[in-house]
Amino acid sequence: MALLEARNLTKTYTVDRRPINVLEDVSLMIEKGTFVVIAGSSGSGKTTLLTLLSGLDHPTSGQVLIDERDITGASEAELAPIRNQIIGFVFQSFHLVPSMTARENIMFPAELRGDPKADTRAGQLLKRVGLADRADNLPSQLSGGEKQRIALCRALINRPKLLFADEPTGNLDSENGNTVLTQLIDLKNEHGATLVLVTHNPDIARAADRILTLKDGHLSG
Ligand SMILES: Nc1ncnc2c1ncn2[C@@H]1O[C@H](COP(=O)(O)OP(=O)(O)O)[C@@H](O)[C@H]1O
Ligand SMILES: [Mg+2]
Repeated sequence: MALLEARNLTKTYTVDRRPINVLEDVSLMIEKGTFVVIAGSSGSGKTTLLTLLSGLDHPTSGQVLIDERDITGASEAELAPIRNQIIGFVFQSFHLVPSMTARENIMFPAELRGDPKADTRAGQLLKRVGLADRADNLPSQLSGGEKQRIALCRALINRPKLLFADEPTGNLDSENGNTVLTQLIDLKNEHGATLVLVTHNPDIARAADRILTLKDGHLSG
């Protein structure tokens, strides 16, 4: 049974009143617990596809099903708990809240759902990624690699079934990038999560169960 399914997705943006067809008839099935890499050149639509699969944006046509539930027609009120509890997202540019400490950033999604163990769990995750001593630092006091490891903890605090990461090492040097990717994959395995990762790192792509490639609006692999 597929945890994530896309059926005939299309996405058209309109720029200067001209349509740009970024995705044309993209379908996929991703089984629970698998590790899937999405590859494709810059501008091929990888970010667009991830935003549709995670319910951050709506397709022009087609359906996205998570746990056999069609999220395409879901209202914001229906989508909010799915995004908060079933999905974790790691962005290329971290997206941490600048006024919150590392620990507060990590706790935030758990506090939204009223989890009384938010603080304990944030502490465990901080320790797990080797940043327990940076808990009270603001993002501005952390390096890029450290920020991304905090973002990874935040994505995992609600134990999501489905983890999306969009070029999470795109803003990092190779050493910090490797630390982030290693921790991402270890944590995915420890949590039994399903991982959909956009990366250009060939070593990581080799470790994936499947590599799907986007080209000219179509997905293959
Ligand atoms: N909000 C938007 N409005 C208009 N065009 C967009 C928008 N987002 C992305 N695009 C265009 O869609 C194409 C795919 O972008 P994107 O999904 O970011 O690709 P990738 O992540 O593979 O680099 C690009 O041509 C980009 O310019
Ligand atoms: Mg992108």
